[in-house]
Amino acid sequence: MKSHKIALIPGDGIGKNVTEAAWQVLQAAAKKGGFALEGTNFPWSCAYYRETGAMMPPDGIETLRSFDAILLGAVGWPAEVPDSVSLHGLLLPIRKQFMQYANIRPHRLLPGVQGPLRSEGFDILCIRENTEGEYTGAGGRVHSGTGNEVAVETSIFTRVGVERILRYGFEQARTRRKKLASVTKSNAQKHSMVFWDEITSAVAKDYPDVELTQYHIDAIAARMVMEPDSLDVVVASNLFGDILTDLGAAIQGGLGYAASANINPDRSVPSMFEPVHGSAPDIANLGIANPIAAIWSGAMMLEHLGERSAAAEVMSAIEAVTTRGIGTNPGQDRTEAITGAVLAVLS
Ligand code: IPM
Ligand code: MN
Repeated sequence: MKSHKIALIPGDGIGKNVTEAAWQVLQAAAKKGGFALEGTNFPWSCAYYRETGAMMPPDGIETLRSFDAILLGAVGWPAEVPDSVSLHGLLLPIRKQFMQYANIRPHRLLPGVQGPLRSEGFDILCIRENTEGEYTGAGGRVHSGTGNEVAVETSIFTRVGVERILRYGFEQARTRRKKLASVTKSNAQKHSMVFWDEITSAVAKDYPDVELTQYHIDAIAARMVMEPDSLDVVVASNLFGDILTDLGAAIQGGLGYAASANINPDRSVPSMFEPVHGSAPDIANLGIANPIAAIWSGAMMLEHLGERSAAAEVMSAIEAVTTRGIGTNPGQDRTEAITGAVLAVLS
C-alpha cells in the first residue's frame, strides 16, 4: 500500500485542536482511498520553548527534511513568548529553509456560509511570495533605548524570487479563468516594486493567453471588497500577500475557512500545509475552534501528494457539511461536531 510520511506540528492554542480534527479526517480519507498516512508528532511550540529555550531543536529542519509533507496548526502564545521570537523560531524558518516560495490561499465562499459581501460568486486564488520581500528579517536597531533610536527593516527582492512566483501564478491562471493580477506599490516604492512590475511585464510575454492586470495594493484591497468576482489569480509579495489573504479570509466568512499551502514546487523537500488563522489563545481548548480551514489545508496536502480523488472527497465532504449549516455558526458549533459531521460524510 502506498504510504506518505507526514510531520505533524500542531503548535500552540487552537492549532492543536484543529490539527487533531484535520488528522482524523485525513486518516478517514486515506482509509477510503486505499493509501496510508504515517504521522509523526512534533511538540514544537511555545510550550516547547519554555522547556528547552528554542522553538525546535537545532536539527529540526534536518529532521523534517525526510518527510513527504508537513501539517501545521498554528504558532504563537504571546503571553509567554513574543511573536517575533516564536514565529522566527519555527514557522518562518520552515518556509524559508525548504524554499516553500509559493503560499497558495484560496478564497471562495463554501456553500451555506454567509459572507459579509453582497457578492457571492467570487473565487480568488491568492499566491503570496513566501521566502523573501518584507519578511527577510534583514535590518537592525541602533542607539537602542535612546531618543535617537533607529530601526531599519530591509525588504529584499531578487530576480529569481520574483520571477518564479510570477511564473507560478501564470501557470495557475492557465488552469483557471486565465486572469492574473500582479500586486505592487510601484507608485510609492520606486526600487523593489518597479523591479517587480518590470519582471511581471517580461514574464507575461511567455503567457499571451493569460490576461494580466497590474494593481497597486491599495486599489486591489478595495476591489476585493467591491468587485471580488473580477479577480482570479492574485500574485503579491510576502507582506502584501499576508494582508490581502486576511482580507480574503474575511470575505469568505472568516479565518475559520481560510486554508493555505506553502509549496516548494520542486518536491525535493517537504511542503507545508496550515490554516491561515493563528493560535487564537482566547478560544484555545474551549472546543469551538472551526476545523474547516485546517481540514481544507489537509485536502490541499492530499492534492500535493498526488491523492487527487481523496482530496476531492474531503472537499466535497466539507461542502456537504456547510451546506447543512454545520460549521457556519462561529462560536457555537463545536469542533468535534463539525469534525464528526465531515467524518460521517466520508464513511
Ligand atoms: C500567516 C501569518 C504569519 C505570516 C505570521 C504568524 C508570521 O500571519 O501565515 O499569514 O505573516 O506569514
Ligand atoms: Mn497572516
